[in-house]
Parts: sequence; C-alpha cells; structure tokens
Amino acid sequence: MSELLADGMLAGLDEIAGTGRDARRGGYSRHVWQAAELELRAWFVERAGRIGLDIETDRNGNIWAWWGTPGPDAVVTGSHLDSVPGGGAYDGPLGVVSALDAIARLQAAGFTPSRPCAILVFAEEEGSRFGIACLGSRLMTGALGADRARALVDADGVTLAEAAVRAGLDPAHLGTDREALERIGLFVELHVEQGRGLIELGQPVAVASSILAHGRWRLTVTGRGNHAGATLMADRRDPMVAAARAVLAVQDAASARPGTRATVGRMNIVPGGTNVIASSVQAWLDARAETDEETRALLGEITALVDEAVAENGCSVAVVEESWAGSVHFDPELRDRFSAALGGVPALPTGAGHDAGVLAASVPSAMLFVRNPTGISHSPEEFATADDCVAGVEALEKLLRTLL
Ligand code: GLV
Ligand code: MN
Ligand code: MN
Ligand code: MN
Repeated sequence: MSELLADGMLAGLDEIAGTGRDARRGGYSRHVWQAAELELRAWFVERAGRIGLDIETDRNGNIWAWWGTPGPDAVVTGSHLDSVPGGGAYDGPLGVVSALDAIARLQAAGFTPSRPCAILVFAEEEGSRFGIACLGSRLMTGALGADRARALVDADGVTLAEAAVRAGLDPAHLGTDREALERIGLFVELHVEQGRGLIELGQPVAVASSILAHGRWRLTVTGRGNHAGATLMADRRDPMVAAARAVLAVQDAASARPGTRATVGRMNIVPGGTNVIASSVQAWLDARAETDEETRALLGEITALVDEAVAENGCSVAVVEESWAGSVHFDPELRDRFSAALGGVPALPTGAGHDAGVLAASVPSAMLFVRNPTGISHSPEEFATADDCVAGVEALEKLLRTLL
C-alpha cells in the first residue's frame, strides 16, 4: 500500500470502524445528531482540516469542506455519515472518505483546481431518526418544507427543531438554501452499490442511470385492547392479526407487479405486552417502482387489500403519506460523459434513494457505484473489497481532474 493510501480512504474507513457499532443489532447505528453521528462529523471536520479544507455547516446541518474559495459553479462531491439501524460500514461513509482521498491525491500530485471544489456531507440521508430520508438535501432544495421538518419527532419524542438546537443549529433558519444550491455547479456522489448489478457485469465501478420512484406511508391499524387470557378468540378485534394480514397483502400486491418492491420493515405495537391484545399497531410501508404512476398504482392496490384484510379482523386502518420521491433519471449527457471519461464503465439503475437523486431536480448530478460483492445493503453484510474501493476513489479522482 502506498504512503498516500495508507493515509487515505482505506485508513479513513478504518478510523471510523469503531464508531456507532450496534452490539444488539449488529453493524452500525449512526443517527443524525446523536453521539455516533456527531463523532463522525467531528472526525470528518478534523480529517478535512488536515488536508487544508475550510469547513462550513449550512442552515440545514449539512457540512461543506471547501478546497479553495467557496462557489459559485463548484464541483461538489460527497455523501452521508448516518446509517439505518444496524446498517453496513459503506453506505454513506464510502462516498465521504473517497471524496477526502480523491482531493488528497490531487493535492499530492500538485494539481491546482481552476474552479471551486467542495465535499458535502448530508444530514439524515436515511431518515432513521426523523422518518424522512434525504432530509438535508430535501430541505436545501425545498422539496421538504421547514415547518414540516421542524415538527418531525424521533422515537424519544424529541422534535427535529429541538435536536437541531442541540446540534448547534438555529431551527428558524432551516429550509430552502438557494445560496448553497447556487454554489453547486455539479454534484457527484460515490456510493457502494446496493444490488448485484456490478457483480453480474464483473466490473468494479459504474455510473448511475436512474433511481426508482419511492415513498413511505404510515399505517395505523386500530382494534380493541383487551386481556390475552380473558378474551375468547371469537370476541377479539386484534390489530396485530390485522397488521400481519396487511403485511401479507403488501407482499402479494408487489409480487404480482414485476419490478415493484414493497416492504414493511418497522412496526410499533401499542401498548406492547405479552399478555395484552394490542389496541393499535403502526406499520411503516416502503413502496417503490420504476415510474411514479406505477408506484401510485401499487399503493392503490396495497391499500385496497389492506382495507379488506383489516376489516375482516374487525379493525380499521388510516394511511398517511410520510414522504415521496419521484423517479430520477440522471442527466444522460453527463452520465455518458462520465462513463467515457472512465473508460466506458457501465450505467446502472438503482432501487435505493440518494441525496444525488434529490439534488438532480435542481443541479446537474451524477453518481458512481462501487461493487458490493455480497449484493446486500442496509445490513452488516454490506461490503466492498479494498481493491474496489481503490478503483472507486481512482474513478472519482479522474472525474475531479477532468472537471476541475
Ligand atoms: C435510502 O437509502 C433508501 O433508499 O431508502
Ligand atoms: Mn442507505
Ligand atoms: Mn446511502
Ligand atoms: Mn440511500
């Protein structure tokens, strides 16, 4: 390993490998503005300082590290440091450490940029704490309103406004950040692949072509709480049973529509006692498809099936949309230009959401994917080999060299 690399990306991943480990779930739980994520932010600031970058935190809690004078028309690269509960080591951090290393490599080669350049670390990409994914980029672009954001509540009842204060932000200043957007001439996010595309192609790196439309809905199934021993089976209105049938309906609806995906990965049983028939159950649905129309059609089918399943169990259900992201098609001209600059790497679609997808509606955006040999993500099994991580950072360095 070269001196540079020893002090670069692989070392960076190594340095944060102990932060935010989740002993109960496995993997990492790094949630926005909580201890582990704050530790990673401090690590990033220190690391960026070491290569002479100037730090700014914007009104929405996204961190910028500038190489040279800030914007306009800057080439910006980065990702996020937060994770899903029990997530992998690469989703997010790989893009951040690769950005640091790509700039360090250019500096070591004596390269002088002719346009501004920055690393951007987004806040709450996963939505694991406040429920809405890509929160930092949605706030920046105005895709999420500040009033709605301020009122979001985490699992401990802390509002986003309160959490922002504790993180040193002024919640009154949250919201659309035109100044920040005007600084971005182009955004590139390097990310571990979250599927099997590169495994199947036998290649280490790709550019992104598109992102599925996706949304999140909260289903509240209401029944009648009662005693587990004293209530005859025929006398029950058990929302847990209704919710279980609703989950099967979700699976049936998505399985019947090729290419669509629907998941219930989180539930809250109220009150949640072994000897208590629940009074209500909240379940969160994540549904995705290639087009907005197909995703909406899938949701329509799911809600019809869920209504039926819930009514059969004497319960009722209320469905609330918590977030929505239309399908994204990355600028084909930029994608092809990047692919060619990297020697003709393939272009791949993804089912995962990204800040680059949110930014794509406002500024030219692109993504690089690095092969994940397990094909698994949002899990401790997510992986990228050292060689592929190096191929990723070399690709990013090459792009920055041509753009700067
Ligand atoms: C975020 O990674 C998502 O796709 O939900
Ligand atoms: Mn993710
Ligand atoms: Mn990610
Ligand atoms: Mn994501």
